[in-house]
Amino acid sequence: MRNFFFICFLLVITVVATAGLRGTKSRRPPLEIFPDMVRQLKVKEQAPSVFFPDGRASRMPVAGTVCWEEPVENPYFSTGIIGDQWGEGIPLEVSMDTLRMGKERFEIYCSACHGLAGYGNGIATHFNLFGVPNYHQDHTRQMPDGQLFYIITHGQGMMLGYGANLSLEERWAIVAYIRALQKSQNFPLGELSEEQKRLLKEANP
Ligand code: HEC
Repeated sequence: MRNFFFICFLLVITVVATAGLRGTKSRRPPLEIFPDMVRQLKVKEQAPSVFFPDGRASRMPVAGTVCWEEPVENPYFSTGIIGDQWGEGIPLEVSMDTLRMGKERFEIYCSACHGLAGYGNGIATHFNLFGVPNYHQDHTRQMPDGQLFYIITHGQGMMLGYGANLSLEERWAIVAYIRALQKSQNFPLGELSEEQKRLLKEANP
Protein backbone atom coordinates (compact mmCIF):
# COMPACT_ATOMS: atom_id res chain seq x y z
CA MET A 1 0.00 0.00 0.00
CA ARG A 2 2.86 2.36 0.83
CA ASN A 3 4.32 1.75 -2.57
CA PHE A 4 0.97 2.51 -4.18
CA PHE A 5 0.82 5.96 -2.55
CA PHE A 6 4.41 6.58 -3.44
CA ILE A 7 3.81 5.72 -7.11
CA CYS A 8 0.69 7.92 -7.19
CA PHE A 9 2.70 10.74 -5.69
CA LEU A 10 5.45 10.38 -8.33
CA LEU A 11 2.80 10.22 -11.05
CA VAL A 12 1.17 13.45 -9.88
CA ILE A 13 4.56 15.17 -9.73
CA THR A 14 5.41 14.01 -13.26
CA VAL A 15 2.06 15.13 -14.67
CA VAL A 16 2.26 18.53 -12.97
CA ALA A 17 5.88 19.00 -13.98
CA THR A 18 5.25 18.22 -17.64
CA ALA A 19 1.73 19.52 -18.19
CA GLY A 20 1.22 22.02 -15.38
CA LEU A 21 0.86 25.69 -16.33
CA ARG A 22 1.57 24.91 -19.95
CA GLY A 23 0.41 27.65 -22.24
CA THR A 24 -0.40 30.04 -19.39
CA LYS A 25 0.92 33.52 -19.86
CA SER A 26 1.96 35.80 -17.10
CA ARG A 27 3.15 39.37 -16.97
CA ARG A 28 5.03 38.73 -13.79
CA PRO A 29 8.69 37.83 -14.02
CA PRO A 30 9.36 34.13 -13.56
CA LEU A 31 10.39 32.87 -10.19
CA GLU A 32 14.15 32.87 -9.96
CA ILE A 33 15.62 30.73 -7.26
CA PHE A 34 19.21 31.35 -8.29
CA PRO A 35 19.26 34.48 -10.46
CA ASP A 36 23.07 34.26 -10.73
CA MET A 37 24.06 37.22 -12.88
CA VAL A 38 21.19 37.21 -15.35
CA ARG A 39 20.51 40.90 -14.84
CA GLN A 40 23.48 43.18 -14.60
CA LEU A 41 24.12 46.87 -14.83
CA LYS A 42 26.01 46.68 -18.06
CA VAL A 43 25.71 47.72 -21.66
CA LYS A 44 25.82 45.26 -24.50
CA GLU A 45 28.06 45.74 -27.52
CA GLN A 46 26.43 47.52 -30.47
CA ALA A 47 23.58 48.68 -28.20
CA PRO A 48 22.58 52.32 -27.76
CA SER A 49 23.46 54.09 -24.55
CA VAL A 50 22.38 57.39 -23.08
CA PHE A 51 25.48 57.50 -20.94
CA PHE A 52 27.96 58.49 -23.64
CA PRO A 53 27.53 61.72 -25.62
CA ASP A 54 27.73 59.88 -28.99
CA GLY A 55 24.85 57.60 -27.92
CA ARG A 56 26.77 54.37 -28.48
CA ALA A 57 27.55 51.73 -25.88
CA SER A 58 30.60 50.42 -27.76
CA ARG A 59 33.76 52.44 -27.24
CA MET A 60 36.72 52.82 -29.55
CA PRO A 61 39.98 51.23 -28.24
CA VAL A 62 42.02 53.72 -26.24
CA ALA A 63 45.01 55.31 -27.95
CA GLY A 64 48.05 53.04 -27.97
CA THR A 65 46.03 49.79 -27.89
CA VAL A 66 48.07 46.91 -29.34
CA CYS A 67 46.38 44.36 -31.60
CA TRP A 68 46.64 41.02 -29.84
CA GLU A 69 46.50 38.95 -33.01
CA GLU A 70 49.50 40.67 -34.54
CA PRO A 71 48.52 40.71 -38.20
CA VAL A 72 51.57 39.90 -40.32
CA GLU A 73 52.27 39.56 -44.03
CA ASN A 74 52.90 35.83 -43.91
CA PRO A 75 49.93 34.00 -42.35
CA TYR A 76 52.08 30.91 -41.74
CA PHE A 77 54.21 33.00 -39.41
CA SER A 78 51.23 33.77 -37.17
CA THR A 79 49.23 30.52 -37.50
CA GLY A 80 51.53 27.61 -38.33
CA ILE A 81 49.03 26.68 -41.05
CA ILE A 82 49.44 26.82 -44.83
CA GLY A 83 46.13 26.54 -46.70
CA ASP A 84 44.33 23.93 -44.65
CA GLN A 85 47.39 21.98 -43.50
CA TRP A 86 50.17 22.26 -40.94
CA GLY A 87 53.16 23.94 -42.48
CA GLU A 88 56.75 22.70 -42.26
CA GLY A 89 59.77 24.85 -41.63
CA ILE A 90 60.72 27.60 -39.23
CA PRO A 91 59.98 31.01 -40.71
CA LEU A 92 62.82 32.67 -38.82
CA GLU A 93 66.52 32.66 -39.39
CA VAL A 94 67.64 29.82 -37.13
CA SER A 95 70.84 31.24 -35.70
CA MET A 96 72.55 30.56 -32.39
CA ASP A 97 70.77 33.66 -31.05
CA THR A 98 67.38 32.25 -32.06
CA LEU A 99 68.16 28.97 -30.33
CA ARG A 100 69.39 30.78 -27.25
CA MET A 101 66.15 32.75 -27.10
CA GLY A 102 64.15 29.53 -27.59
CA LYS A 103 66.12 27.80 -24.83
CA GLU A 104 65.61 30.68 -22.42
CA ARG A 105 61.85 30.92 -23.08
CA PHE A 106 61.43 27.14 -23.04
CA GLU A 107 63.12 26.90 -19.67
CA ILE A 108 60.90 29.67 -18.28
CA TYR A 109 57.54 28.64 -19.74
CA CYS A 110 57.69 24.94 -20.54
CA SER A 111 60.33 23.09 -18.55
CA ALA A 112 58.29 23.03 -15.34
CA CYS A 113 56.12 20.38 -17.01
CA HIS A 114 58.09 19.16 -20.01
CA GLY A 115 61.47 18.92 -18.26
CA LEU A 116 64.68 20.72 -19.25
CA ALA A 117 65.47 18.10 -21.90
CA GLY A 118 61.87 17.52 -23.00
CA TYR A 119 61.37 14.09 -21.43
CA GLY A 120 58.05 15.15 -19.88
CA ASN A 121 59.47 14.90 -16.37
CA GLY A 122 59.45 18.51 -15.18
CA ILE A 123 59.05 19.48 -11.55
CA ALA A 124 55.24 19.70 -11.85
CA THR A 125 55.09 15.98 -12.62
CA HIS A 126 56.45 15.33 -9.14
CA PHE A 127 53.28 16.97 -7.85
CA ASN A 128 50.81 14.66 -9.56
CA LEU A 129 50.62 16.25 -12.99
CA PHE A 130 50.03 13.31 -15.30
CA GLY A 131 50.08 13.00 -19.06
CA VAL A 132 52.92 15.32 -20.03
CA PRO A 133 54.23 13.84 -23.28
CA ASN A 134 57.85 13.01 -23.94
CA TYR A 135 59.19 14.93 -26.98
CA HIS A 136 61.53 12.05 -27.80
CA GLN A 137 58.93 9.71 -29.21
CA ASP A 138 57.89 9.32 -32.83
CA HIS A 139 54.55 11.04 -32.27
CA THR A 140 56.15 14.35 -31.32
CA ARG A 141 59.20 13.94 -33.58
CA GLN A 142 56.92 13.61 -36.57
CA MET A 143 54.68 16.56 -35.71
CA PRO A 144 55.00 19.29 -38.32
CA ASP A 145 56.67 22.52 -37.14
CA GLY A 146 53.42 24.39 -37.73
CA GLN A 147 51.54 22.09 -35.39
CA LEU A 148 54.11 22.60 -32.62
CA PHE A 149 53.69 26.34 -33.13
CA TYR A 150 49.91 25.98 -32.98
CA ILE A 151 50.02 23.95 -29.75
CA ILE A 152 52.29 26.54 -28.13
CA THR A 153 49.89 29.28 -29.23
CA HIS A 154 46.55 27.68 -28.38
CA GLY A 155 47.40 24.78 -26.06
CA GLN A 156 46.14 21.22 -26.38
CA GLY A 157 44.03 19.13 -24.04
CA MET A 158 45.20 19.85 -20.51
CA MET A 159 47.88 22.29 -21.62
CA LEU A 160 47.02 25.98 -21.82
CA GLY A 161 48.13 28.14 -24.74
CA TYR A 162 50.97 30.62 -24.47
CA GLY A 163 49.90 32.90 -27.34
CA ALA A 164 49.30 35.77 -24.95
CA ASN A 165 52.62 35.35 -23.15
CA LEU A 166 55.08 34.81 -25.97
CA SER A 167 55.62 36.84 -29.14
CA LEU A 168 55.45 35.10 -32.53
CA GLU A 169 59.26 35.14 -32.77
CA GLU A 170 59.61 33.64 -29.31
CA ARG A 171 57.14 30.87 -30.15
CA TRP A 172 59.01 29.96 -33.35
CA ALA A 173 62.30 30.12 -31.47
CA ILE A 174 60.86 27.57 -29.02
CA VAL A 175 59.84 25.33 -31.93
CA ALA A 176 63.43 25.52 -33.21
CA TYR A 177 64.74 24.72 -29.72
CA ILE A 178 62.40 21.70 -29.38
CA ARG A 179 63.82 20.41 -32.70
CA ALA A 180 67.33 20.94 -31.34
CA LEU A 181 66.43 19.03 -28.17
CA GLN A 182 65.01 16.20 -30.26
CA LYS A 183 68.18 16.04 -32.37
CA SER A 184 70.32 16.13 -29.25
CA GLN A 185 68.67 12.95 -27.93
CA ASN A 186 68.30 11.01 -31.15
CA PHE A 187 70.94 11.62 -33.78
CA PRO A 188 72.66 8.81 -35.68
CA LEU A 189 76.36 8.98 -34.79
CA GLY A 190 77.30 7.96 -38.33
CA GLU A 191 75.84 11.17 -39.73
CA LEU A 192 78.18 13.41 -37.76
CA SER A 193 81.17 14.85 -39.60
CA GLU A 194 84.66 13.97 -38.36
CA GLU A 195 84.97 17.46 -36.91
CA GLN A 196 81.67 17.10 -35.03
CA LYS A 197 82.71 13.68 -33.71
CA ARG A 198 85.95 15.19 -32.47
CA LEU A 199 84.06 18.00 -30.69
CA LEU A 200 81.67 15.48 -29.15
CA LYS A 201 84.54 13.38 -27.85
CA GLU A 202 86.16 16.50 -26.45
CA ALA A 203 82.95 17.44 -24.63
CA ASN A 204 82.47 13.90 -23.27
CA PRO A 205 85.93 12.59 -22.50
C1 HEC B 1 51.40 23.10 -16.87
C2 HEC B 1 52.17 22.11 -17.58
C3 HEC B 1 52.61 22.44 -18.98
C4 HEC B 1 53.31 23.53 -19.42
C5 HEC B 1 53.82 24.72 -18.60
C6 HEC B 1 53.50 23.34 -20.83
N1 HEC B 1 52.94 22.18 -21.25
FE1 HEC B 1 53.00 21.39 -23.10
N2 HEC B 1 51.82 19.87 -22.52
C7 HEC B 1 51.38 19.65 -21.24
C8 HEC B 1 50.49 18.53 -21.22
C9 HEC B 1 49.78 17.96 -19.98
C10 HEC B 1 50.38 18.09 -22.55
C11 HEC B 1 49.50 16.96 -23.07
C12 HEC B 1 48.24 17.65 -23.50
C13 HEC B 1 47.19 16.71 -24.03
O1 HEC B 1 47.32 16.28 -25.19
O2 HEC B 1 46.24 16.45 -23.27
C14 HEC B 1 51.25 18.94 -23.34
C15 HEC B 1 51.45 18.80 -24.69
C16 HEC B 1 52.38 19.51 -25.42
C17 HEC B 1 52.74 19.24 -26.79
C18 HEC B 1 52.17 18.13 -27.67
C19 HEC B 1 53.12 16.97 -27.68
C20 HEC B 1 52.53 15.71 -28.22
O3 HEC B 1 53.31 14.82 -28.57
O4 HEC B 1 51.29 15.60 -28.27
C21 HEC B 1 53.69 20.16 -27.14
C22 HEC B 1 54.41 20.28 -28.47
C23 HEC B 1 53.90 21.01 -26.00
N3 HEC B 1 53.10 20.59 -24.97
C24 HEC B 1 54.78 22.05 -25.96
C25 HEC B 1 54.86 22.95 -24.89
C26 HEC B 1 55.66 24.15 -24.92
C27 HEC B 1 56.57 24.56 -26.05
C28 HEC B 1 55.44 24.78 -23.73
C29 HEC B 1 56.00 26.11 -23.28
C30 HEC B 1 55.69 27.25 -24.10
C31 HEC B 1 54.55 23.96 -22.94
N4 HEC B 1 54.20 22.86 -23.69
C32 HEC B 1 54.16 24.25 -21.65
C33 HEC B 1 51.73 20.38 -20.12
C34 HEC B 1 52.38 21.59 -20.14
